[in-house]
Amino acid sequence: CPIVVLISGSGSNLQALIDQSLQGQLNINICAVISNKAQAYGLERAKMAGIPTHTLDHKSFASREEFDAELQAIIDQYQPKLVVLAGFMRILTETFAKHYEGRMLNIHPSLLPKYKGLNTHQRAIDANEKEHGVSVHFVSPELDAGAVILQASTSITTDDTAESLAGKVHALEHTIYPLAVKWFSEERLTFQNGKAFLDTNA
Ligand code: GRF
Repeated sequence: CPIVVLISGSGSNLQALIDQSLQGQLNINICAVISNKAQAYGLERAKMAGIPTHTLDHKSFASREEFDAELQAIIDQYQPKLVVLAGFMRILTETFAKHYEGRMLNIHPSLLPKYKGLNTHQRAIDANEKEHGVSVHFVSPELDAGAVILQASTSITTDDTAESLAGKVHALEHTIYPLAVKWFSEERLTFQNGKAFLDTNA
């Protein structure tokens, strides 16, 4: 299953996909990794795995529309079945999101629909939440609002900080994101009428 992964940072979720595919747990082919930041460590991870990389700096574009159009052109050269957002810190235009409707996934560090947007760990602590977690969802034009595919949760303890909580959530991410990608690659996970469906017979 040809996949393009978009990143902006460390790329630990990208690494989880690379590792599981090398271990034969995931039958995917990551054709390219694209970052909007030249310094993203995930680009190094991709190079080490022999995956082609592209850097597309959003600051060199006059508008979000122009950036997204160029990004789409690069992605579509690879004709991917799936686009995976793995810490890609850009708000997407509606045109871009619609172009990949049903074939673009994101991972968000909260139990959606709670805590869309940034600083989710601190916001969950400040709200005295007992539980926090992570969600994998299909991307829709509205930020962090697409159909949820699966979630994993962890408890918030009194000594948790945003950093410690981020660590716990990251560990969950590295388990559930490859799982969702596996389902998609096996054509068991589909997007129908705005919802995520998992075919349990396949
Ligand atoms: C993760 O916390 C993910 O949920 C969020 O961005 C972070 C990416 O981490 N969307 P990494 O770059 O994969 O390490």
